Amino acid sequence: MVVEIKKVGVIGAGQMGSGIAHVSALAGYEVGLHDISQERIESGLATITGNLNRQASKGQITQEQSRAALALIKAAPQLDDLAEFDLVIESASENEQVKRKIFSQLCPSLKPEAILATNTSSISITRLAASTDRPERFIGIHFMNPVPIMELVELVRGIATEDETFETSKAFVARVGKTVAVAEDFPAFMVNRILLPMINEAIYTLYEGVGSVEAIDTAMRLGANHPMGPLQLADFIGLDTCLSIMQVLYEGLADSKYRPCPLLVKYVEAGWLGRKTQRGFYDYRGETPVPTR
Ligand SMILES: NC(=O)c1ccc[n+]([C@@H]2O[C@H](COP(=O)([O-])OP(=O)(O)OC[C@H]3O[C@@H](n4cnc5c(N)ncnc54)[C@H](O)[C@@H]3O)[C@@H](O)[C@H]2O)c1
Repeated sequence: MVVEIKKVGVIGAGQMGSGIAHVSALAGYEVGLHDISQERIESGLATITGNLNRQASKGQITQEQSRAALALIKAAPQLDDLAEFDLVIESASENEQVKRKIFSQLCPSLKPEAILATNTSSISITRLAASTDRPERFIGIHFMNPVPIMELVELVRGIATEDETFETSKAFVARVGKTVAVAEDFPAFMVNRILLPMINEAIYTLYEGVGSVEAIDTAMRLGANHPMGPLQLADFIGLDTCLSIMQVLYEGLADSKYRPCPLLVKYVEAGWLGRKTQRGFYDYRGETPVPTR
C-alpha cells in the first residue's frame, strides 16, 4: 500500500533541508521550502542553486534538469503554505523543543492524510510522533550529509507508524535515488550511534593533549583510511548537532561512555559550530582551513 506523493514540504532550509529539497525536486516532486525567515529560505535556495549548477557543470545532470528542479522549488514562508502537501519533512535544528513547536503549529493546518517525517539524527521518533496528531502517519526519514552525494537514508518507524506510511516513505526514498537501511527507534539509530562516539572520542583525544587537530585528523585519514578526519567531519556535521546527538545518547542510554566532551561543549558555547559559522576545529575564514588548536 503506497500513497502517491506529489508535493514535498521541507521545514528548515539549512544544510540538510536544502539538500532534501534539492534531491526531491530533481526527482520531479513539487517542493515547498520553509524556514524561520525569508532570508534563511533565500540562503537555502542560493545553496541549492549553487549545488545544482555544480552538478550540471560536472555533467552529472543536464542544464535542463537543473533548471527544471529549481523551478519546482517554491518558498513557503508560512507553515500554512504546506497545508496541502502530501509529505512534509521536518529538518530544523536538532532540538526537541524546536521540533515539537513546529509540529504543534503545523498539524492543525496540515491535511489529515499527509505523512509527517523528521530528519532528526537522534531524537526518539515515537516521542516526537506522540507530540503530533498523527503518530500512525509519522516516520523518521534520516538523510546523510551532504544529501545530494550520500546514498544512504535510514528509515525509522515509531511504535505507531503504519505500514502504509513506511511503504510510501520507502518508495519516496527510492525515487530520490537513495538506498534504505531500516533502523529501530533507539537513540541516534545506527549510523550516528556508531559515528558520534568516535567523533566525541577524537575530541577527548584533543582535549587530553594526546594529539593536535591536525595530528588526530591525519592519524585517522592515513591510519584508518577514513576519507576525512573526525574533527574535520565534526565541523562538517555542525558542532551543535554533534553535541545534541551525544546528549541524546547520554541521556537516552544512561551510560557514561556517551558523556559529551567538555571541549565540544566549549566550542558550541563559543558559537564555533564548524563550517556553517566559519569556525570550529578549523578556521575557514581564509583561503585554506587553519586548525584552531
Ligand atoms: N548536519 C548533519 O550532518 C546532519 C545529518 C543528518 C541529519 N541531520 C539533522 O537534520 C536537521 C537539520 O540539521 P542541519 O545540519 O541542516 O542544521 P542547520 O543548522 O544547517 O539548519 C537548521 C535550520 O533550521 C532552521 N530552523 C530553526 N528553527 C526553526 C523553526 N522553528 N522553524 C523552521 N525552521 C527552523 C534554522 O533557521 C536553520 O536554517 C537536524 O535534525 C539534524 O540532526 C543533520
